[in-house]
Amino acid sequence: MSVREVKLCLLGESGVGKSSIVLRFVRDQYKENLESTIGASFMTKQVVLDGKTYIFQIWDTAGQEKYRSLAPMYYRGAAAAIVVYDVTREASFPAVRDWIRELQRAASGNIVLAIAGNKCDLSDLREVSKQKAKELAEELGAIFTETSALTSANIQTLFEEIARRLPAN
Ligand code: GTP
Ligand code: MG
Repeated sequence: MSVREVKLCLLGESGVGKSSIVLRFVRDQYKENLESTIGASFMTKQVVLDGKTYIFQIWDTAGQEKYRSLAPMYYRGAAAAIVVYDVTREASFPAVRDWIRELQRAASGNIVLAIAGNKCDLSDLREVSKQKAKELAEELGAIFTETSALTSANIQTLFEEIARRLPAN
């Protein structure tokens, strides 16, 4: 049986919900008051998809500016990256383009890129339209989805979509 290890990292501004997405995906848990990540944290999760086993090796990076320079350590050699913004915080969106550009320049050439607009459960507070984000993703050649770590919406499917897009090896 084939087993594939997939190194993946999450990037994005502090507080957008990177750690919450990982916690939901890996343990199916959600915490209202997660502590802001220091440096980065690592978790693994096994997924069986279309008869293949994938072991995601997930680097959840810290969004705070003071950790910015550490990011290359985590995306270097990564097979996939998820860049997260908060749909209720317009100020978290411009960083998406910057991260994708940096990944296209400095990460592995065939890295699978995804953009996740998190906190989509908070529809009354929305500041970033789905259309605008979708257009950016199309322009940059990235997978796009809106997620909610709180409700679980699109979390599992995001990782599955990434697995499907991995180049054959
Ligand atoms: P850093 O580690 O500082 O980079 O932040 P982060 O991107 O890891 O954010 P984190 O996962 O810690 O989420 C910050 C807070 O946002 C959480 O404590 C939750 O209160 C809230 N949050 C995260 N995901 C969701 C979501 O999907 N919906 C809602 N309503 N709140 C969320
Ligand atoms: Mg975090």
